Amino acid sequence: MSINAEEISTLIKQQIENFDADIEVNDVGTVIEIGDGIARAHGLDNAMAGELLEFSNGVMGLAQNLEESNVGIVILGPYTGIKEGDEVRRTGRIMQVPVGEELLGRVVNPLGQAIDGKGAIETAKSRPIEAAAPGVMDRKSVDEPLQTGIKAIDALVPIGRGQRELIIGDRQTGKTTVAVDTILNQKDQDMICIYVAIGQKESTVRNTVETFRKYGALDYTIVVTAGASDPAPLLYLAPYTGVAMGEEFMYNGKHVLVVYDDLSKQAVAYRELSLLLRRPPGREAFPGDVFYLHSRLLERAAKLSDALGGGSLTALPFVETQAGDIAAYIPTNVISITDGQIFLQSDLFFSGVRPAINAGLSVSRVGGSAQIKAMKKVAGTLRLDLASFRELEAFSQFGSDLDKSTQAKLNRGQRTVEVLKQGLHKPMVVEKQVMILFALTKGYLDDIPVEDVLRFESELNVWVESNRNELFTTIRETGKLPDDGEMRSAIEAFKKTFLPTNN
Ligand SMILES: Nc1ncnc2c1ncn2[C@@H]1O[C@H](COP(=O)(O)OP(=O)(O)O)[C@@H](O)[C@H]1O
Ligand SMILES: [Mg+2]
Repeated sequence: MSINAEEISTLIKQQIENFDADIEVNDVGTVIEIGDGIARAHGLDNAMAGELLEFSNGVMGLAQNLEESNVGIVILGPYTGIKEGDEVRRTGRIMQVPVGEELLGRVVNPLGQAIDGKGAIETAKSRPIEAAAPGVMDRKSVDEPLQTGIKAIDALVPIGRGQRELIIGDRQTGKTTVAVDTILNQKDQDMICIYVAIGQKESTVRNTVETFRKYGALDYTIVVTAGASDPAPLLYLAPYTGVAMGEEFMYNGKHVLVVYDDLSKQAVAYRELSLLLRRPPGREAFPGDVFYLHSRLLERAAKLSDALGGGSLTALPFVETQAGDIAAYIPTNVISITDGQIFLQSDLFFSGVRPAINAGLSVSRVGGSAQIKAMKKVAGTLRLDLASFRELEAFSQFGSDLDKSTQAKLNRGQRTVEVLKQGLHKPMVVEKQVMILFALTKGYLDDIPVEDVLRFESELNVWVESNRNELFTTIRETGKLPDDGEMRSAIEAFKKTFLPTNN
């Protein structure tokens, strides 16, 4: 083969003619204003929205406002070292975080850096924190339960794998406890958990991590935290970091649970950012795109089609209300983009009903398809029963002479409320939940004093485990309710051995 010198020289000439020195110029800008974690830079005409930028001292920033004469940049780290006149460079990348199994058992900040003192995390892969949600055809309807181990949730407002269920309530109503206990219950359930703590006190997060460790849940959990003292941009980014880490597992056919505790604090951080970027404030001073802040996050929860491996990402967003007002701006936004909500109420909590779930205001729009058959059978009418009990209870306060059937309903209602109570960090496997709900709905608790109901439950479970364990095995392995007669005979046999307290 001969080389044509003529041809080569024309090619080189062409290359030189088309060479565009512009790129260089547009890739480096100058800081013209700095303060409060926000910088403005001139000369970054080609910057992309959300692009990662690097300041001359190595601190990173995110391009947010692309304006005609300058770019508004959110600084991801200490901003005191950056001065007016400093250089800021484009990286050409949007923000990425490390992903993969190496992160399990670790505590990281929203940039994916370890903050648990166990050394740097070496991962082979990374993912952009902003990504498009799976499309309509990539999804499948939710059909597998996510067992929270919390009776009141699994029975009344069941959650399916791939669902988005909002947990909402005032402060100190047991919201974080629901998240923690749900994660504790995922042990041996083929689930990976990601707990995103947003704007919480460092001591609280530390205690949560300690609880995970103590109950052996840290092995399958990643904790992403942006604390109360961290700058607003980190609080804003934390949920996207969490979901990106989750997606890596979901797209590899695994099941993931991501908990965002809580999105109200993320919204407040975003409001702060937006005001500093001088975006126009809207309702409650939130920027106009605060809905998109949460919708683009929660849309990334999905149950993938079999062709894509059938993985799932379940999202449990949390929202904190003020004085139980679920009609405020952020709560109504998030209610409208989730598949249901679990409402925790202060007065229930203080009256000793814990978890303080208001069954009337809580719904799961995926519902029954997220329950095993046995649970569906025993819990079928529980919700309505409970609602009518609450009504009767309020009504019966006016009169003392109640007819027999009303008295019986009240009686059953009190025991239902009692059965749905559950202590701290005591998730219960589904077969045991089915057993006690069966006993309740078939009337075996009606003559047990209310204060003995929870003891009856725990002793019943121990008894069945050692005497009729095949009932538990059947429920666990087939998902079906064992023969009615066998269930009844077990409970009756146990009941003969049960001693009420006042005897
Ligand atoms: N089921 C429960 N039984 C007993 N105590 C509980 C229960 N749930 C929560 N608590 C206690 O109530 C307090 C507030 O709970 P927490 O989950 O932190 O609420 P929130 O996140 O809504 O502020 C904690 O001290 C917690 O230990
Ligand atoms: Mg909390």
